[in-house]
Amino acid sequence: MEYRYGLMTVQWDDEDRSLVLIDQRRLPNRLEYIRCRSHEQVAECIRSMAVRGAPAIGVAAAFGLALAAINSRARDRESFMREMDAAFRLLRSTRPTAINLFWALERVMGKGRSAGSVEEAKVSMLSEAITMLKEDLDVNRRLGDHGSSLLNDGDRVLTHCNAGALATVGYGTALGVIRAAREKGKRISVIAAETRPVMQGARLTAFELKHDGIDVSIAPDTSIGLLMARGMIDKVIVGADRVLRDGHVFNKIGTYQVAILAREHSIPFYVAAPLSSFDLKSRVDEVTIEERAYDEVVKVSGKRVAPRGVRVFNPAFDITPPHLITAIVTEKGVLEQPYEQSIARVFNPS
Ligand code: MRU
Repeated sequence: MEYRYGLMTVQWDDEDRSLVLIDQRRLPNRLEYIRCRSHEQVAECIRSMAVRGAPAIGVAAAFGLALAAINSRARDRESFMREMDAAFRLLRSTRPTAINLFWALERVMGKGRSAGSVEEAKVSMLSEAITMLKEDLDVNRRLGDHGSSLLNDGDRVLTHCNAGALATVGYGTALGVIRAAREKGKRISVIAAETRPVMQGARLTAFELKHDGIDVSIAPDTSIGLLMARGMIDKVIVGADRVLRDGHVFNKIGTYQVAILAREHSIPFYVAAPLSSFDLKSRVDEVTIEERAYDEVVKVSGKRVAPRGVRVFNPAFDITPPHLITAIVTEKGVLEQPYEQSIARVFNPS
């Protein structure tokens, strides 16, 4: 099965009526795929981070709900919608921070709610998920194209976590910008911060950039200040799990300190995020930051590295305030400060 699906993170097998996901827990050592035939399986893949990254989680969840629909044996709309509500709630509960999860589930659920019959609901919920998969690829291409103008030939670009093909259906957001710049003939080299404790930078960003022949080096998260002080980083670009209407960005833990370091060293700090990652309703203090497992911190490759009984803080995301962000790249263009206005304009064009 190796490479049969290429680096497409989320795929729908129409013949088999199943969702095929790259198992990101096994990367970079093994490229394996998981086939999901039920919404419970999809929920488990999201919870355990077999699939991760805001846009990928969203599209996977959309197919989770579509699978619940096509597997349903309900005959009347009421019992069908009761089943859909239960599946919706299960999928919603998997991870709390990336807004794409809720956005995607709402879209597919909306199709179920507005359908006139169970059969119609099944068809339109599945077709909405398929549309979202295609849209994700298209959105990333457009976002990459806009963002590529921010990078110059020869730039050395730092990224944190993985906002690449593996975090989306394919191509990526922050790494999509890098791919697009390369496609335009610019030579770009990438520094991937390791991203403790789950190591998305070392495991996933390094894997997918090497896979595509893009120059990549890994650096410990703790080395970024020194690399910047030595003039080894020209630009920073990261993804986002949620962008608020005033430009606050929730992204992988460690992003905030990278942004502060970038400001200290006058290095542009860019965020790449599709409009599906924007949350125009919540205030900063209303967003839940996921706390992940104790073992992620006290163990390395399954081996204990901290004393028993020690307390642990393991927040998965942090919040970068808008004044530290040079620009936010979306599929509709590059947004600049003040974000309150540029974000409002992109959602309500006059
Ligand atoms: O915990 P993860 O691996 O799901 O976190 C992923 C990130 O923080 C990404 O930077 C973000 O989702 C953007 S992906 C295009």
